[in-house]
Amino acid sequence: MPSTTRRVMIFRSLAGGAAALVSSAVAWVRPAEAAEDAAGPVLAKTKSIPVGGGVVIKSRRVVVTQPTRGTFRAFSATCTHQGCTVATVKNGTINCPCHGSRFRISDGSVARGPAERALSRRKIKVSRGVIRLG
Ligand code: FES
Repeated sequence: MPSTTRRVMIFRSLAGGAAALVSSAVAWVRPAEAAEDAAGPVLAKTKSIPVGGGVVIKSRRVVVTQPTRGTFRAFSATCTHQGCTVATVKNGTINCPCHGSRFRISDGSVARGPAERALSRRKIKVSRGVIRLG
């Protein structure tokens, strides 16, 4: 029968093997995560963007719109008037709550001031029903 010290050594050996397996699994996952990062962060699923409307993604400070079915656009959510974050998308415009500026969902151009410049366009990639920053 093995001594206590020997049992401890066997246990430690098995535990070390398990730790090596876990670290191998972690190493296996990392390249996939890196590939996802290279593809750009996910903004939304296409089905979550209403046709003729859009969604403000505050965590990314981006507005994603779908002016016509299957056409997606993205703009900075920072209002060009004084820098507030736009809040809503309604009736074909992206709307700033601070002073009432409105921007067209098709190209970010000014529909109503006081803003004088369009929202800046953000590049996106749409693939397999997912919209990512490009
Ligand atoms: S900051 Fe948007 S309208 Fe003034």
